[in-house]
Amino acid sequence: GRVCLAYSGGLDTSTILKWLIEEGYQVVCFLADVGQDEPWKQVEEKALKIGAEKMVILDLKKEFVEELCFRAIQCNASYEGTYLLGTSLARPVIARAQIKVAIENNCDSVSHGCTGKGNDQVRFELAFYTLQPTIKVIAPWRLPEFCEKFKGRQDLLEYAAEHGIPVTSTKAKPWSMDANLAHCSYEAGILEDPDKTPPEDVWTMTQSPQKAPDAPVDITIHFEKGIPVKVVTPEKSYTDSVELFIALNKLGFEHGIGRIDIVENRFIGLKSRGCYDSPAMTILRDAHRDLEGLVMDTAVRALRDQFVTHSWSYQLYNGMYFSPEREFTENSLVFSQRRVNGAVRLQLYKGGVYVLGRSSATEKLYSEEEASMDTLDNFSPMDTTGFIAIQSIRLKKYGLQKAEEGAN
Ligand code: ARG
Ligand code: SIN
Repeated sequence: GRVCLAYSGGLDTSTILKWLIEEGYQVVCFLADVGQDEPWKQVEEKALKIGAEKMVILDLKKEFVEELCFRAIQCNASYEGTYLLGTSLARPVIARAQIKVAIENNCDSVSHGCTGKGNDQVRFELAFYTLQPTIKVIAPWRLPEFCEKFKGRQDLLEYAAEHGIPVTSTKAKPWSMDANLAHCSYEAGILEDPDKTPPEDVWTMTQSPQKAPDAPVDITIHFEKGIPVKVVTPEKSYTDSVELFIALNKLGFEHGIGRIDIVENRFIGLKSRGCYDSPAMTILRDAHRDLEGLVMDTAVRALRDQFVTHSWSYQLYNGMYFSPEREFTENSLVFSQRRVNGAVRLQLYKGGVYVLGRSSATEKLYSEEEASMDTLDNFSPMDTTGFIAIQSIRLKKYGLQKAEEGAN
């Protein structure tokens, strides 16, 4: 049979590639460009040298930013209150493209190098099965025969030497990384000790806030329907989705914005320590949340926060992107955003994102006159006497009961 392998050029997937060939498969390799830095040409040459029939590299940056990252911004998405979902957001577009490549090349199976302990295996495979229910999945790191053969890095290196697989001379970093436009993740290896502070050279998408310039930079972000449509910096303005995202990553890098270090709960139930830097996502999320304060209805906002933000974030984290529940929450999310139009002015300074002001040409919910105490057109201050009296009926009863119980 023919298999489409998600291939990165690293030691693990190079070993898997060779092993699949030795098992009798024809292999089409696939690599997605979601904005990570990669020696694309070298990866292709390596795949072909090891024996792949073909190497397909697809640029998914635009769909990644527009379909996934901007939805996450509209949603103020986060997992367990902090993780901005960088890896989880990229998986759906990568899986979708891999299935497309598999179908176009007559592959009856797909393969990946995810471990048996993580979230990514779940995300990829649930997506594969929804998009192509007849597909077969080969997950070598869950096959006893593969795991017996490759017990550690040493076995992989020996196999590579035996089979003429070139091993990149740069010493592997003692942690695992996953990079895309939304973030870079750092996990495992020396970072498994949750009390070990990540050494400074872990971080790739942010410089240390301590090294950030003493002069802040002020920028403006414009939103339409909750989607960032324009970023204005002192030098330039950006309207293209991918360009504005990259521009914010650069500014965020410089000013040290978006580093987090957490212990999270993986879908399969394990706890895991993860470090992430997500400069553009952090800036956009802060700006978006602020604008919602100005333009969004209070009850809609509370419902969205309670149900949609939470559900959509967990759906993405748990690999349920291609699911009826994600379609359902996303429709309500998009509806909630139809009046989120306006601009937010921000200052980026030594790791912080500070809001300087916000405005909206179209939204009229906020009124300076109403908020100030001087003029009240639609109601008189006396009206609130009744409002408080009614609200207090229930609370007075509660207070009396508490007093009777002697436990006030
Ligand atoms: N813990 C994060 C997540 O589940 C990051 C996963 C990183 N994946 C990787 N293959 N290195 O989304
Ligand atoms: C992996 O285990 O393959 C990476 C980490 C994860 O998927 O959570």
